[in-house]
Amino acid sequence: MEKIYIVGGKRLLGDVRVSGSKNGTLAIMAGALLAKGTTILEDTPCIGDIQTMVEMLQQLGVHARMLGKNRVEIDATEIKNCEAPYDLVKKMRASFCVTGPILARCGYARVPMPGGCDIGARPVDFHVKGLQALGATVNIEHGYVEAEADKLHGAPVYLDFPSAGATQHIMTVACLAEGITRIENAALEPEVVGLANFLIAMGAKISGAGTGTIEIEGVKELRGINYKVIPDRMEAGTLAIAAGITRGEIVLSNVTSEHCTAVFQKLQETGIHVFQGPDFVSIKADARPLATDVKTMPHPGFPTDMQQPFSAMLAVADGTSVVSENVYERRFRYVAELQRMGAEIVQEGRTAIIKGVPKLTGAEVTASDLRAGAALIVAGLAAEGRSEISGLEHVDRGYEDIMGKLASLGADIVRMGIPPEAAVKLA
Ligand code: EPZ
Repeated sequence: MEKIYIVGGKRLLGDVRVSGSKNGTLAIMAGALLAKGTTILEDTPCIGDIQTMVEMLQQLGVHARMLGKNRVEIDATEIKNCEAPYDLVKKMRASFCVTGPILARCGYARVPMPGGCDIGARPVDFHVKGLQALGATVNIEHGYVEAEADKLHGAPVYLDFPSAGATQHIMTVACLAEGITRIENAALEPEVVGLANFLIAMGAKISGAGTGTIEIEGVKELRGINYKVIPDRMEAGTLAIAAGITRGEIVLSNVTSEHCTAVFQKLQETGIHVFQGPDFVSIKADARPLATDVKTMPHPGFPTDMQQPFSAMLAVADGTSVVSENVYERRFRYVAELQRMGAEIVQEGRTAIIKGVPKLTGAEVTASDLRAGAALIVAGLAAEGRSEISGLEHVDRGYEDIMGKLASLGADIVRMGIPPEAAVKLA
């Protein structure tokens, strides 16, 4: 099995470029299905989830391919198949967002319900409610969502929770629904704004993205375009936290500072110096981080995806921190792994009380999901001795060459073993 091996204690020093946004790219790839033409996406991250989405589009009979590591070409002039395969939707929840675009283009879509995952149940009821509001007949049986609509029409849609995915999904479909759609209690995430900007460049009429009310006026057709995706704020946050826990000094390039305000503010509360430039950020940590409290919230609150790596840093902070996870119901599975490294954390329901210890010790640990993997890597960078991290299939879904980036900053980190797919071939 392939593992990442880290010998902790090295300060991270130097410059590193942040890759394009995973979550921003996935939503845009689904949106590209609306155009009867070719879209080229620039600066896409070279990660598993993008490859999975390319495979998904290919299964729909759409011409989709990687053009080198960081470019994706999608020609959705034709959508030959209106049914998405279970194995891909199960593998990556975000692919469920192809339902609406297929429905808008073909009048019918049949897509498996994405299962839950290690961070919670993650239902899609808001998505379904939105499709129904726009005129779709939706039938859910045998684990599939089947949606039909001769004609989609604009409608008011209220979201019980500012769901990023549901906002993106409904906004996308509404672009081809006749009339006006107003999404109330919409998500404010930068990836929602990035998608809206992409759709507008394709010819969509959207206003209010980035606010709680988004208005979309349907149009007849959209055109393929070339588009550069926004930087990945979660990778930026993860690298900044890694610099913090190692008392390092790094400069991140290709960062949109205002997308990361909550994480950077929290880092400052722990005594870490953060200087935010227009498209770069410098992080300087010269002492043990101070404890602080964290409450995850929808954007612009502290992002739930950063709760895990940030908590790993708080595990060695001076003092006790209280972390409450208000977005997902099960996002503390990494705690048991940190405890094996010597962390003193008491977790009750959606709250973790983290009593900072002077140091963690290296151990063999396993990532249960993408951001849990980030937490274990962050912890390993500061732990005394060697850590062995498995579950890399999760890490590779969302971080482009995280090992290479950390090694370029001076981390003592290598990746060895047989990659999962190779192991199957050998057998
Ligand atoms: C997106 O997931 C991200 N994924 C997640 O990142 C991120 O954690 C999440 O937004 C919150 O910011 C992608 O963009 C691909 P939500 P999404 O809908 O859209 C509940 C990562 O690590 N909900 O905002 O699925 C849901 O259960 C991933 O990159 C419903 O109840 O998140 C959750 O508790 C992990 N019904 C809350 O809303 C619905 O129909 C927020 O979910 C939809 C969501």
